Amino acid sequence: MHSFGYRANAVLTFAVTILALMCAIASVSDNLNSPSPSSEIQILNINWFQKQPHGNDEVSLTMNITADLQSLFTWNTKQVFLFVAAEYATPKNALNQVSLWDAIIPAKEYAKFNLHTSNKYRFIDQGHNLRGKEFNLTLHWHVMPKTGKMFADKIVMSGYRLPEEYR
Ligand SMILES: *[C@@H]1O[C@H](CO)[C@@H](O)[C@H](O)[C@H]1NC(C)=O
Ligand SMILES: *[C@@H]1O[C@H](CO)[C@@H](O)[C@H](O)[C@H]1NC(C)=O
Repeated sequence: MHSFGYRANAVLTFAVTILALMCAIASVSDNLNSPSPSSEIQILNINWFQKQPHGNDEVSLTMNITADLQSLFTWNTKQVFLFVAAEYATPKNALNQVSLWDAIIPAKEYAKFNLHTSNKYRFIDQGHNLRGKEFNLTLHWHVMPKTGKMFADKIVMSGYRLPEEYR
């Protein structure tokens, strides 16, 4: 004979098991989805480029950012954190990464966009290595799921170069 408490507990255990199973299936099915995001970034303008009084190079630029990240969104996606970084090598560091812009995409309907923006965060070198410097613009994203593990990936765009002279 089962007491009421025992039955209630059994029902609860069953519900929790089903819920855990659904979460597991959710994150597995989400991992099976292979997204194919695309992006293109053009530099529309070098607004100014100078050496700061204490010697670090700083540049201000305007970018044309086009991206289609709709395929990152599934029913299990809470939001996507995006950032654009300038990446370049200097004699001191094989990889210098400067974050220029970021955004949070709250839903699929905002995941395809084109915008013109100057760098939101300052593009400053830890030195004066930027004249004529070749660099990459990398679009990084972190997908925050409703359940399961966060994942990150990026698109690397190369072939950018800063002017030879300050302006
Ligand atoms: C911005 O980039 C998009 C996609 O490459 C292009 O269609 C558009 O003409 C560009 N805008 C400017 C002002 O260059
Ligand atoms: C820039 O991108 C190219 C091509 O993907 C890569 O070979 C190079 O290592 C990148 N440079 C830096 C500093 O990350």
